[in-house]
Amino acid sequence: MEVLFATSNTNKVEEANKIAAEYGMSFQQVNIIYPEVRAESVSKVAGEGVRYVYEKLKRPVIVEDSGLFIDALNDFPGTYSAYVFKRIGCEGILKLLDGVEDRRARFKSAIGYCDKKGVKVYEGVVEGSIPCEMRGSKGFGYDPIFKPLDSEKTFAEDPAHKNRASHRRKATELLCQALSPR
Ligand code: IMP
Repeated sequence: MEVLFATSNTNKVEEANKIAAEYGMSFQQVNIIYPEVRAESVSKVAGEGVRYVYEKLKRPVIVEDSGLFIDALNDFPGTYSAYVFKRIGCEGILKLLDGVEDRRARFKSAIGYCDKKGVKVYEGVVEGSIPCEMRGSKGFGYDPIFKPLDSEKTFAEDPAHKNRASHRRKATELLCQALSPR
């Protein structure tokens, strides 16, 4: 089964497709701009986004909204993660956390799926922490500064572990399970 994936982020599509292949599914990237609502929850952003895109395309489609939520920064950058990454990057986040002891954080992913039956949203979360320096060169975005709880390596150092444990893995699996024929 092929479903459209509305995004300009090829990394997201590649990661989701590795997981979807395990369910005999794939996502086909489509570059379509949709308005991102201002909201604090990734589920709200993904749900509203996919509703908009479906109205344009009238074909089964997903939109993913994801972000990094840091406890000591009251969940910043959260749903503004893409914008903040462009402005200050991993280095800027490390500066904001300079001298901060509580380095707990989580990545969240929400995948909105829409077809003629309406919108469903699937969520995934991975808990971890922010190391004191950037480590690793794989992946994208904040991967060099995110270390999941069950590993000593960042996602950028260990993409195989990211594939097994990520927020995107969890949300994509829920979607694929819902769409797979029983
Ligand atoms: P959006 O979902 O397109 O709004 O973008 C979310 C932003 O959060 C991305 O541009 C990245 O900066 C960051 N992000 C989301 N998922 C990941 C991930 O798996 N690794 C690293 N950064 C991520």
